[in-house]
Amino acid sequence: MPYICPICQSPLIQHLSSKGYYCKNKHHFDLAKEGYLNLLPAQHKKSKEPGDSRAMMRARRNFLEAGFYQPMAKALASMIDKHRTESVPMHILDVGCGEGYYSRQIEIHAQHSENLDLQGIDIAKNAIFAAAKKQPNAHFIVASSKSMPYADHYFDLLFRVYAPSNDKEINRLLKPGGLLLIVTPGPRHLWQLKEFIYKEVKEHSADISLPEGFEQIESQRISYTIQPDQEQRMALLQMTPFAWRAKGDVQNKIQRSHGLEIEADFILTLALKK
Ligand SMILES: C[S@@+](CC[C@H](N)C(=O)[O-])C[C@H]1O[C@@H](n2cnc3c(N)ncnc32)[C@H](O)[C@@H]1O
Ligand SMILES: [Zn+2]
Repeated sequence: MPYICPICQSPLIQHLSSKGYYCKNKHHFDLAKEGYLNLLPAQHKKSKEPGDSRAMMRARRNFLEAGFYQPMAKALASMIDKHRTESVPMHILDVGCGEGYYSRQIEIHAQHSENLDLQGIDIAKNAIFAAAKKQPNAHFIVASSKSMPYADHYFDLLFRVYAPSNDKEINRLLKPGGLLLIVTPGPRHLWQLKEFIYKEVKEHSADISLPEGFEQIESQRISYTIQPDQEQRMALLQMTPFAWRAKGDVQNKIQRSHGLEIEADFILTLALKK
């Protein structure tokens, strides 16, 4: 079993009839109807609904499902495929998975996806609810990436797309020789959207910091332009960390910029745990 108890860290065992999970110290966790597990005890929560709000999650889902980031998702899936032995099951974790778009894309694009064990973790319950509903054969849990309730060295590969993570936990969860795949914004990501917001737009730094004990083995830049419609532009704006800077007048301008072409620019970094 991959899971450990978030309260006492003992292994979790699945209850055969209820399908819920429990540990030897009788901490119990129900399996939701949609198939996800909530492993974020109330005492670990800093707010009532931690993580992205439902509105943010919906906006992101609509935007992603329209396919604007599919070229990046495909590159992510093929990078994973390239580094696996098809006949051997691979345990993969999406850290800060949101509503599971990338996990679904990996399943769609991978060769022999039946040999993939896809797992996802996010602190936002509404996102995990949506992810579990859409991908019944993947496994999703509500928990924080700062303290991930999985057994040591369980995973062959961890990836994260624009989500927070914790180096110590990444190290603990990955097998020796395991892989870490990080997607970060490339220098020109969303340039034309940022031009509405900043007087002087600066390029994103291409440097990424790897946890100690990791060695970069591959890097790929994916850039292209997208042309989202009005509603999608607003959704995209909401997905960005600079959305809060866009006041009413700026939002109106973005809304009215019909046909605006926006650069998408991503860097995929693959690192090996030594
Ligand atoms: C920018 S979103 C990216 C989501 C997804 N990877 C994607 O690209 O569609 C960041 C995600 O991290 C989650 N998050 C924020 N803090 C977290 C934490 N401490 N632990 C786990 N997830 C967290 C949010 O709920 C949100 O779903
Ligand atoms: Zn316990």
